[in-house]
Amino acid sequence: MTDRKILLVGNWKMHLNVQQSSLLVHRLHERIRIRRDIELVLAPSMLSLQPMSVQIDRRKFRLAAQNAYHKDEGTCTGEVSFTMLQDLVHYVIIGHSERRIYFGETLEVVRDKVAAALRNDITPIICIGETEVEHKAGETRQVLHDQIVTALSNVTSSQVKELVIAYEPVWAISTFGGTLAKPSDVQETLNFIRAQVKDLYGPSAAKAFRLLYGGSVDNQIVRGYLELEGCDGALIGSASLNYEKFSGICDAAYRLQTERGEQ
Ligand code: PGA
Repeated sequence: MTDRKILLVGNWKMHLNVQQSSLLVHRLHERIRIRRDIELVLAPSMLSLQPMSVQIDRRKFRLAAQNAYHKDEGTCTGEVSFTMLQDLVHYVIIGHSERRIYFGETLEVVRDKVAAALRNDITPIICIGETEVEHKAGETRQVLHDQIVTALSNVTSSQVKELVIAYEPVWAISTFGGTLAKPSDVQETLNFIRAQVKDLYGPSAAKAFRLLYGGSVDNQIVRGYLELEGCDGALIGSASLNYEKFSGICDAAYRLQTERGEQ
């Protein structure tokens, strides 16, 4: 067994009601084996979190919220705080491109949510990524730099070691076109992201934090990304709604970990 776990996060977005979520968990539970070198996280809708927390086998799955509000409590009609999620989830996805683009989440909002997650002992999964226009204009590094520096501005080096950053080029996400990113190009960007964290926090923090890739990842192509140096796993959207595809992704991760363990 290798010492580095693979982290696979299924982002169900605004799909599946409580009953449908329960059925999908049931199917995944039947198909997926427990392995200590793979961590599986499911991010259902806010409504499904509570019933799923009772249903899941905690040795197999952990839960993530897809979003939360940065204040702990108060006169904020319609919002759910990190404080309220504290006993329910291990992770919260923060700054997903759909939230940045559809709901106008700014760099500062993302920064405040990261701080709120850490204050409430929830691990943030911070999504970063450039749009197609930025990509074509050669602005990827600048965009990622700004997203990283702002998101981490209230974060200490020991906190950085615990958190997760998911690199999701916006143009590669199925919602926004789903053009597949070449693993060799992704490798360069992952290296850049680690180098940014190294500049801010030094080499041990840069090595310790977990870095995921996301953008139209499915069971056929996941391995190409999981094999990249410094890639700790994947954030999976549409393929995570299909139990055959998601369990196929888990199988690919199992095979890779087994091969790594044999080396
Ligand atoms: P996708 O979504 O896998 O459907 O492209 C990924 C994401 O939005 O996190």
